[in-house]
Amino acid sequence: MIMKSVVLLVFAFASVTSAFHLSEQDEFHFKLWMTQHNKVYSMREYDQRLQVFTDHKRRIDKHNEGNHSFTMALNQFSDMTFSEFRESFLWSEPQNCSATRGNYFSSNGPYPDSIDWRKKGNYVTDVKNQGSCGSCWTFSTTGCLESVTAIATRRLVPLSEQQLVDCAQDFNNHGCNGGLPSQAFEYIMYNKGLMTEQDYPYKAVEGICLYKPQLAAAFVKDVMNITAYDEMGMVDAVATRNPVSLAFEVTSDFMHYDKGVYTSTECHNTADKVNHAVLAVGYGEENGSPYWIVKNSWGPNWGIDGYFLIERGRNMCGLAACSSFPVV
Ligand SMILES: *[C@@H]1O[C@H](CO)[C@@H](O)[C@H](O)[C@H]1NC(C)=O
Ligand SMILES: *[C@@H]1O[C@H](CO)[C@@H](O)[C@H](O)[C@H]1NC(C)=O
Ligand SMILES: *[C@@H]1O[C@H](CO)[C@@H](O)[C@H](O)[C@H]1NC(C)=O
Repeated sequence: MIMKSVVLLVFAFASVTSAFHLSEQDEFHFKLWMTQHNKVYSMREYDQRLQVFTDHKRRIDKHNEGNHSFTMALNQFSDMTFSEFRESFLWSEPQNCSATRGNYFSSNGPYPDSIDWRKKGNYVTDVKNQGSCGSCWTFSTTGCLESVTAIATRRLVPLSEQQLVDCAQDFNNHGCNGGLPSQAFEYIMYNKGLMTEQDYPYKAVEGICLYKPQLAAAFVKDVMNITAYDEMGMVDAVATRNPVSLAFEVTSDFMHYDKGVYTSTECHNTADKVNHAVLAVGYGEENGSPYWIVKNSWGPNWGIDGYFLIERGRNMCGLAACSSFPVV
């Protein structure tokens, strides 16, 4: 009985204090966002989500009033705390990702000032959505293999993430709990094939391996690991060959990225801290600031139509710690 009333008291206190900080305006913005994102909550959860949302909104507004190279905006993640977000979308433990000596050798240029594989031809598939599963590494892998294959064959075919989620464990990959593109390319090479998205569709949960060799649609002959922290090696590969898989550390300031060149003082830059894999499809420079053009896997409504720009040349958030691509 005593426990129960203490709990009730804490609840009552919590809702009074949060109500005190929140205005009608805040609630108006939240309800609008709820409608836009088709959200429904229980009475109890409503208060809690309203508080989380409002904290994000204040941070976003404050950031956008400052002089930053990128802006933030509300998006589908705005009712989640960063730890909930990390739990659902990012790796929880470090992956074995540092190739201290890679096997990719740069050509030493010269390199164009900018390149965008989306504009060079039909080489990049539409942005996909990983859902609540730490399977970013599979999207980085398919995205890269789709592009490398399309550049070689002139045929762009969406490939299966689910096969990698279900079947690539023997190569230190862990389904919805993380993995690495380099290890996934190794799996595809030894497995002798990857099926198409259509034949092995994405489910965002781990299941048993349903690979059918007769439906193999894409192949890997060799895996190129770019030496850890050799960001010029990445430039070389993207300029002279194809898009490149990379990993970096996502911190709370990235969740609400909107547009512009992302830079952070919150993230680290070492291989043991990276927690998200994506695909560099090009690079460029804006008012003297060099950036990468990166394809994400959080759907087309996040960031710039599903893409983001991130500072290039300083190993921002460890983005040069473990990059790789397949040879087909
Ligand atoms: C904003 O930042 C840019 C680059 O950091 C700088 O060149 C510019 O002077 C700043 N503008 C203001 C108003 O502080
Ligand atoms: C790293 O590699 C070792 C040795 O192959 C393996 O036992 C371990 O599970 C790997 N860690 C991850 C997170 O894959
Ligand atoms: C590339 O990296 C993968 C895993 O990260 C590793 O298994 C493979 O041996 C590496 N390849 C080379 C040629 O170093």
